[in-house]
Amino acid sequence: DVDYIDTWNAMEELVKLGLVRSIGLSNFNMEQIQRIIQCSSYKPVVNQVEIWPGFLQKDLVDYCRYNGIIVTAHSPLGQPNREDHSPIYFFSEGMKRLTKKYKKSAAQIVLRYLVDYGVVPIPKAANPVHIKQNLNIFDFKLDDADTRALRGVNPKSRIVKYETVRDHPFYPFERDDEINEKIDEELPAEDLKDENKEDDVEEEEDN
Ligand SMILES: NC(=O)c1ccc[n+]([C@@H]2O[C@H](COP(=O)([O-])OP(=O)(O)OC[C@H]3O[C@@H](n4cnc5c(N)ncnc54)[C@H](OP(=O)(O)O)[C@@H]3O)[C@@H](O)[C@H]2O)c1
Repeated sequence: DVDYIDTWNAMEELVKLGLVRSIGLSNFNMEQIQRIIQCSSYKPVVNQVEIWPGFLQKDLVDYCRYNGIIVTAHSPLGQPNREDHSPIYFFSEGMKRLTKKYKKSAAQIVLRYLVDYGVVPIPKAANPVHIKQNLNIFDFKLDDADTRALRGVNPKSRIVKYETVRDHPFYPFERDDEINEKIDEELPAEDLKDENKEDDVEEEEDN
């Protein structure tokens, strides 16, 4: 039941004491950030939120950018799972085309796209090949058409919902029904549509 403003003020004390250089937020929505900015003397340096193609949170990203807050993208690949081919865009025919064109893996394409989008992706990888790949994303650039195609990936619901704290007064996320309403308003991309599920994108181990 602690108000996050009290927590933030305590964190501000740490900055004042010189014990901490920078303080930031995670999973805060625009209203909550606004309240922090209004009630505090230190602005958050960063807000870490879920962002991946299909869940770009553009309004929140724009809002953070306007206020000089860096956005860190957690779950930036959308937690790819080869067993059930999710998220579908990652294993789609459109993505397969991009991996061939740029000679990069799907993960590298996505991470580069997110960097160009203006956020800081933090992929998790246990596989050393993946870790190496994920660092090697600055020797190519997606052209405008491919960037547009990625921007048009069919919108999806949030993956990390923290359902167990759904009834908390400060639960920061929209309810599912509201999210679905917005999804219906969005336009799908032709190129990275949710089809050709069976055509798996090969992992390119040498990237
Ligand atoms: N602030 C929050 O509320 C919050 C919530 C969720 C996550 N996070 C943080 O966000 C970070 C990442 O998120 P996440 O783990 O949820 O999702 P993610 O990074 O989108 O997905 C992780 C999955 O992607 C695979 N992967 C990574 N690099 C790959 C590559 N190059 N090719 C193919 N597959 C690849 C990993 O496989 P391998 O492990 O086999 O390499 C792992 O299964 C973590 O540091 C996590 O702590 C923060």
